[in-house]
Amino acid sequence: MFTPLMLTVRGISAAFALTLLALSSTVSGAEYLELSQLRQRELAQLVRNDCGSCHGLTLKGGLGPALLPESLRDKSIEGLRETILRGRTGTAMPPWSVFISEIEANWIVEQLMKGFPDAH
Ligand code: HEC
Repeated sequence: MFTPLMLTVRGISAAFALTLLALSSTVSGAEYLELSQLRQRELAQLVRNDCGSCHGLTLKGGLGPALLPESLRDKSIEGLRETILRGRTGTAMPPWSVFISEIEANWIVEQLMKGFPDAH
């Protein structure tokens, strides 16, 4: 037997459950956020062209040090990411946080450590 009160309670709990669902999918969505293929290509070009102007087109070093897997192997991902985002005061390494997000800087560090993909 349904009373209007029961319907209201059911309605509220259904709305509550939906809200929870929406919240939890937003959170896990952010955790597993992946960069689009397009953005990955843009970042690959940025690294080859802009970073390459100092670190060498093949990233073997120039004005800036080599950014190859063997040169970065023992360094911390967080430290490298901070260097990219904030630059290094007193050196030629500029900050990039205006152009790239933290997630994107992490992606760049991961790719550098694996061997950076060619820009197509
Ligand atoms: C104007 C020149 C210049 C540009 C452009 C530049 N860098 Fe640098 N970068 C440097 C120099 C010089 C250093 C070394 C700083 C020092 O002496 O500590 C450096 C250091 C670094 C380091 C730390 C390396 C290590 O072994 O600790 C990383 C990572 C890095 N750069 C990544 C990048 C990325 C990614 C870009 C492009 C988004 C970029 N750099 C663009 C000059 C540059």
